[in-house]
Amino acid sequence: MKISDRVSKIAESATLAITTLARSMRAEGKKIIPFSAGEPDFDTPACIREAAKKAIDDGYTRYTPTTGLPELKKAICHKFESENSLMYKPDQIIVSCGAKHSLFNAILALCEEGDEVLLPVPYWVTYLEQIALAGATPVPVYCRQDTLEVEPDALRESITPRTRVLVLNNPVNPTGVVYSEKTLAEIAELSLQHDITIISDEIYEHLVYDQKPPPSIASLDPEMGKRTIVVNGVSKTFAMTGWRIGYSAGPYDAVQAMSRLQDHTTSNPTTISQIAAQAALQCPQEIIQSMVETFNRRRTLMSTLMNALPDVSFPFPRGAFYIFADFSAYLGKYFCGNLLNSSFDLAQKLLREAGVACVPGSAFGMEGFLRFSYATSEDNIETGMKQLRSFLENLT
Ligand SMILES: Cc1ncc(COP(=O)(O)O)c(C=O)c1O
Repeated sequence: MKISDRVSKIAESATLAITTLARSMRAEGKKIIPFSAGEPDFDTPACIREAAKKAIDDGYTRYTPTTGLPELKKAICHKFESENSLMYKPDQIIVSCGAKHSLFNAILALCEEGDEVLLPVPYWVTYLEQIALAGATPVPVYCRQDTLEVEPDALRESITPRTRVLVLNNPVNPTGVVYSEKTLAEIAELSLQHDITIISDEIYEHLVYDQKPPPSIASLDPEMGKRTIVVNGVSKTFAMTGWRIGYSAGPYDAVQAMSRLQDHTTSNPTTISQIAAQAALQCPQEIIQSMVETFNRRRTLMSTLMNALPDVSFPFPRGAFYIFADFSAYLGKYFCGNLLNSSFDLAQKLLREAGVACVPGSAFGMEGFLRFSYATSEDNIETGMKQLRSFLENLT
């Protein structure tokens, strides 16, 4: 069957081969340390699960308005007002099937053929593919090699008359960088000067360890609210990746455009999940705090062990649950006669020979790096880091 050009152009995920290999090794009974996970390993908190069970019995089993249940949208408006000092009306909110879907709606609604979209590198690979699917041109803007932060000057140098959108993720997957208010203000200034719309992906907002959640770039200037689509969701904060609820907020016209698109693609996200998301947004803060404290202990443990590895460097992660480390000193080395030429080779051999799954930096546009998730137990972190160390010691 002929596949459309649009879809043929989507690159096969650089992680797919690694994920498939990990699965088949597990099926053979091998224990794999899951440092590749992009999701919390906790169960969804009980009060959220209970709300969903009750929703079924209460008959929340039919369609809802495309943009979501009014009660949920009210809870989202309250979240934005109380946590981000952002005032939205319910018709400026759209609930979608995960933040990934929210992002796709936003990108399709805003970008077209010939538009340029600024994308800090390393990036979450979905942004790149979604921009390309919209027919727009992703413009990579490389972060500083040491801090892995994008510099406003580098963004400025990449602006052309065709620049339409900047996709900003804060805190950042894969690096764990959390942008300061100062940097965000400089980026906001660029957006205002050059009429650039910002898609601000704040899905890891609550997973920060040394500070309060960072401000939303939309809140830094009254004009910024008019040129920002804020994307957030319940997946990471509430350990709800499988429930598939994300949401966006922005100017009325843009949200209506996204709503028209969603009308003819998915309609509303699952009704029961919407009730669960509402319970999540209204649950006691301690539920988030206890997960964040656990992530924080794991972050300290993994960073300490990673720091002790020879010739490996990384910026200490301040948010999300990843360490993005530079292993380029190991490229060009051999494992039992096999040359390791790329981060993909390194990740694949590490999995096959040491049973440790991680994600090659090439998946995020940065060769020579590996991403390790600490969304796993401290026991797994200790065992996996030991196995990583002995794997590295065996390279020649
Ligand atoms: C940066 C970033 N944005 C969005 C998402 C998607 O979240 P969801 O599971 O709600 O679609 C992810 C998931 O890995 C992510 O890392």
